[in-house]
Amino acid sequence: MNNKYRKTVIAGNWKMNMLASGIKPYMEELKSFLPKTKSCETVICAPAVNIPTLMKLGKEAKIICGAEDVSEHDKGAFTGDISAAQLADIGVKYCIVGHSERREYYKESDFKVNAKIKQLLDKGISPIICVGESLEQREMNLTSAHINYQVRAALNGIDVNSLRKCVIAYEPIWAIGTGKTATAEQAEEVCRDIRAIIRDIYGARPARSVSILYGGSMNAKNAAELLAQPDIDGGLIGGASLKPADFATIIAATGAENE
Ligand code: PGA
Repeated sequence: MNNKYRKTVIAGNWKMNMLASGIKPYMEELKSFLPKTKSCETVICAPAVNIPTLMKLGKEAKIICGAEDVSEHDKGAFTGDISAAQLADIGVKYCIVGHSERREYYKESDFKVNAKIKQLLDKGISPIICVGESLEQREMNLTSAHINYQVRAALNGIDVNSLRKCVIAYEPIWAIGTGKTATAEQAEEVCRDIRAIIRDIYGARPARSVSILYGGSMNAKNAAELLAQPDIDGGLIGGASLKPADFATIIAATGAENE
């Protein structure tokens, strides 16, 4: 982390978990474990139907609400989709885009990811842009080429002012939900590369101020070491964000350097 230049963000990704009735007990428990002062922005990206409840019940704990996906279209006949305007309308501030589960199960292309990012930015929502390599790509030494392609494709046509609203999340696919975390060195290496790509496109200052998160089996035990890396500015947390005590420990792990 380097919060002299950029904000630290801890974002939970609830995925397709949690019922509206579970949010109250979750928040009660989270509040009981949270540090007195938080030195990061704490976001929970929730299933769309849970967002209004989360917004109400998460206020006291200063939880910022995020969505997990958005339509690449503006509006119209797209049954089941939710537009950026609809998310902004209910007060959503962040939205995950290009998560590997969406890329894999719903065949989301880099082109679609880019279109979604543009929809969000147009409505003032910060995209959390996920990139990451598969195990095969890592083993074939293709990590750097793949990340380079994904980052450039995601940011295609996005100007420097809009970049300031973007958060990038490096999530190696082989580490998501597997319990296999990238080592702090592996994660830092790719996050540093991502910053270098952004520097190449936008210059040194914008690159210095973009928050880059690590995601993939981040948990209460490994968070502090990952967050201590200079180019890792937070985490995108799946499984551990469903456990209030663990999520609070990760939030607290951002404190040491910031306070
Ligand atoms: P995980 O998920 O923390 O359960 O590995 C991270 C993610 O998919 O964003």
